[in-house]
Amino acid sequence: MKTPKDDGVTGARPSRSKQETQRLFHELEVHQIELELQNEELRTVRDNIETVLEKYTDLYDFAPIGYLSLDRTGIIRNANIACASLLGIERSRLQGRSFNLFVTDEYRHIFSEFLAEVFASQTKQSCQVKLSSENNETLFGQMEGISLASGLECRIAVMDITERRRSEEALAENRRELSDLNKTLETRILRAVEELRLKDQMLIQQARMAAMGDMINNIAHQWRQPLNTLGLVVQQTMLFHDTPKFSRDFLQNNTDKAMKLIQHMSATIDDFRDFFKSDKEPAQFDVNEILEKTIALIEQNFQHQKINVILHSDGEAPATGYPNEYGQVILNILTNARDVLIERNIDHALISLRSYVEGDKTVVTITDNAGGVDEAIMDRLFEPYFTTKGPDKGTGIGLFMSKTIIEQSMGGTLTMRNTGTGAEFRIEI
Ligand SMILES: Nc1ncnc2c1ncn2[C@@H]1O[C@H](COP(=O)(O)OP(=O)(O)OP(=O)(O)O)[C@@H](O)[C@H]1O
Ligand SMILES: [Mg+2]
Repeated sequence: MKTPKDDGVTGARPSRSKQETQRLFHELEVHQIELELQNEELRTVRDNIETVLEKYTDLYDFAPIGYLSLDRTGIIRNANIACASLLGIERSRLQGRSFNLFVTDEYRHIFSEFLAEVFASQTKQSCQVKLSSENNETLFGQMEGISLASGLECRIAVMDITERRRSEEALAENRRELSDLNKTLETRILRAVEELRLKDQMLIQQARMAAMGDMINNIAHQWRQPLNTLGLVVQQTMLFHDTPKFSRDFLQNNTDKAMKLIQHMSATIDDFRDFFKSDKEPAQFDVNEILEKTIALIEQNFQHQKINVILHSDGEAPATGYPNEYGQVILNILTNARDVLIERNIDHALISLRSYVEGDKTVVTITDNAGGVDEAIMDRLFEPYFTTKGPDKGTGIGLFMSKTIIEQSMGGTLTMRNTGTGAEFRIEI
């Protein structure tokens, strides 16, 4: 607002007309309003910038993933709060550090290659590295990076994928275990089956030993009579010695008698011993022969307890398998019948055995008249260790062992039913 007279050189202020002053004042007022408007505009622009900055800062700093800018050598130029907290360090201390320091040794080469790719390619690159935070906690980071147009810096986003990696690793581990499990399943099943078989064998062996103990009773019964007779023969020799009846012939006769008895007793022992021998190989055998042999072993003992044992055979009864084991099964069933008959004090106790051929099977039934098995325990009869006898009387292995022998070694069946008067065991092979 300079006037030609107001050049600011003379220093003397010419007096202005009132009109002039008013104009000047008005101009100043207009100018002031303009300035105020401009100022207002600037303030709005500044406010806008501040809002944008705030937004940007908020977006950058409080983003849920870590952001950082690296220069070509991998030095951190900038990082957001998420990145700093990921690396367990204050943000101010991150700037100027090499990012490599946070990468674990075994992943450094991966990171270097990634950084080189980022600067070389101008497109987004990614990699996964193991990071070690300031307080030595390790985590897995998914890195995504792209270089700036200047080519001097790159921007990188870092996400903590430790949990994901752990689940992936756990999944892979599970898959591995599963496939190992599958691979070894067959061998483990075979081993388990073999272990079970060995356990069964042990049980059978135990039962056999127990049955042998029972056999001592039978031997005692078989021996009682010949032993008495032998005693008489020996006494007679001495008695007759001083009488005229004593002669060489008499002595010879008595010696022969004694020897026969001794041979008989010895044969009995052999029979018992043979009976408990294990069969090595399956063989053809005559079921009737085994039934007769088995009955012969227990007959005198059973008769002493007033139990009758009878055998009906309808002709030939051929079978293939293990004859001695078959005999032990018969013995188990007979012994069980004897035990119930005595326990229940049955009059006219009777055990009848029948053998016959049915189709291509040889069947043997063993029936007693002791009243049968209580329905409630029918299902458990063949379980190992199932017994209704006292602990000193039964182990509960007899029938389990018998079923195992018949069904697993000889491919037959062993079943039981109540007849109304007693129990009937049926063996088919
Ligand atoms: N003929 C039968 N009549 C009634 N019950 C029977 C007969 N045979 C077996 N049982 C029942 O079956 C149970 C199991 O018989 P098993 O031969 O397996 O064992 P146990 O005779 O008790 O003992 P172990 O034979 O080992 O000495 C017996 O305790 C008995 O209760
Ligand atoms: Mg028994």
